[in-house]
Amino acid sequence: MIDHRTLRVALLGAGSVGSQVANLLIERADELEERTGARLELSGIAVRDVDAPRDVELPRELLTTDASQLILGSDIVIELMGGIEPARTLILEALNSGADVVTGNKALLATHGAEIFDAADQVGASVSYEAAVAGAIPIIRPLKDSLAGDRVKRIFGIVNGSTNYILDRMDRDGLSADEAMSIAAELGYLEADPTLDVEGYDAAQKAAILASLAFHTTVSIDDVHREGITSVTGEMVESARRAGLVIKLLAVCERLGEGDDESISVRVYPALISREHPLASVRGGNNAVFVEAEAAGDLMFYGAGAGGIQTASAVMGDVVSAARRHIAGGVGVGESPRGDLPVAPIGAIVTRYQIRLEVSDEPGALEAIARAFSAGGVSLATVEQTTIETDDGAPTAQIVIGTHRAHEEDLSDIVAALAASEVVERVASVLRVEGE
Ligand code: NDP
Ligand code: HSE
Repeated sequence: MIDHRTLRVALLGAGSVGSQVANLLIERADELEERTGARLELSGIAVRDVDAPRDVELPRELLTTDASQLILGSDIVIELMGGIEPARTLILEALNSGADVVTGNKALLATHGAEIFDAADQVGASVSYEAAVAGAIPIIRPLKDSLAGDRVKRIFGIVNGSTNYILDRMDRDGLSADEAMSIAAELGYLEADPTLDVEGYDAAQKAAILASLAFHTTVSIDDVHREGITSVTGEMVESARRAGLVIKLLAVCERLGEGDDESISVRVYPALISREHPLASVRGGNNAVFVEAEAAGDLMFYGAGAGGIQTASAVMGDVVSAARRHIAGGVGVGESPRGDLPVAPIGAIVTRYQIRLEVSDEPGALEAIARAFSAGGVSLATVEQTTIETDDGAPTAQIVIGTHRAHEEDLSDIVAALAASEVVERVASVLRVEGE
C-alpha cells in the first residue's frame, strides 16, 4: 500500500498557459495522484491583478499578488509569468527554499540559464523547462535524457509559430507581411512585444536553449546569430515559389570542425528550403525540429509550437516528473555544460546561397558577375536571367544565382564587391538555402 503524500504546488502566473495549468491541476487531481503517488495540492496562484479576467475560471481564494510568500513551503514552483524579473528572483528564491522548479520561460533561460542551473545544482533541486521550446512538442527531454548517450551533430527547424504563420500566409495566400501579422496577433501567436517574434529574438532564445543541451555547452542569446523576417518581402516569397522553394525562419545549431578545432554555430535566419522538404509542409503556427545524431540518425519532432492548453501539456509533464522525484527522492537530472565548445562567428558557416541581382542589361554584365564569384572562390550551381521592368520603365536584367556550398565569409565579400560594382544596380536579396 502506497502512503500518498501531499506536495504543495505554487503557480506563478495565470495567463494563457498558467490558467490552463491551474485548471488541469484542479480537474485532474485524482489522476495526477495515481500517476505520481502524491496529492498535488495547488496552494496558490500569484498574479499581478487578482481581478483581471482569465481564460479559465479559477478559485478566487487561490489568487494572490504575493509571489514570495506563496513560494515559502512549496515543494514545486511553476513559473509561468514570463520575462526576466521578478521571474529570475522568484525562481532563485524557490530553489533556495528547496523547491523543484518548472518553467516555460525561454527569455530567462537564454539569458540567466547558467545562474539558475548552478543554483539548482548547489541545493540539489531540479529545473525543468519542456515548455520553453516548441510549445507542446517534447524536445527538451529527448535531448536531455533520451539522446544523452548519443552525440548530436545538428538541430535544424522551425521553433517560432507566429513567424511561420506569417510566412505561410504570405506564401499560400499572397497576403502582405502586415496583413499576415495582424491575423497572427488576433490568433494570439505573437509575443506581447511582437518584435521578439519578427526580429527572431524568440527563435534565438529557443536556439540557445537547444544548443546548450545538445552540445553540453552554455550558450546564451548573445552567442546566437539572429536575423528576423522583417526583410522578407512579398517579392522574395513569390520569387522563391516560382523556383520551387519556400522561405522559412529556421534555427540551426550545429557542430563545426573536429577534435581541437571543434566549435558550434547557433543561428536563426530566414532561409530557402525546397518545397519537397518536410519542413516546407509545416503550416500555420506549428513547429518542427530535426535532430541529427551520430548513432540515432535523423529524428523529427512536430506539433503545436504555442497555445495555452498545448503548452500546458508540456508543463504538466514536467510537474509529474518533479513530483515523482520528490516521492522517490534524489536529485533530478542536472545540466551538463562540460563540453564548453567555442561558438563560431557566422562567417565560419558553410551552406548554399541564392543571390538575386538587378543589373544593367548590357554585354559583359553576366561575365563580370561570374568573374566576381570565381575570384572569391565560390562555385556557381545555377544562373537564371530574366528581363524585368523597373519603376523607371528601363529594362533591367534580374539574375538569380544559386551557389554550391560556400563559406559565409567568402560569400559576404563577393556580395559586398558586387553591390559596389558598376554592373549591379541592386542586390535584391541574399538568402541561405538549407535542408539539402
Ligand atoms: P501571459 O502574459 O499570458 O501571462 C503571464 C501571467 O503572469 C499573468 O497571469 C500575469 O498576471 C502574471 N504576471 C506577470 N508578471 C507578474 C508579476 N510581476 N507578479 C505576479 N504575476 C505576474 O503569459 P503566457 O501564459 O503566454 O506565457 C507564460 C510563459 O510561458 C512565458 O515565459 C512564455 O514565454 C512561455 N510560453 C508561452 C507560450 C504560449 O503559447 N503562450 C508557449 C511556450 C512558452 P495578470 O494575469 O494579473 O496580468
Ligand atoms: N511567440 C511564440 C511563437 C510563442 O510564436 O512561437 C511560443 O513560444
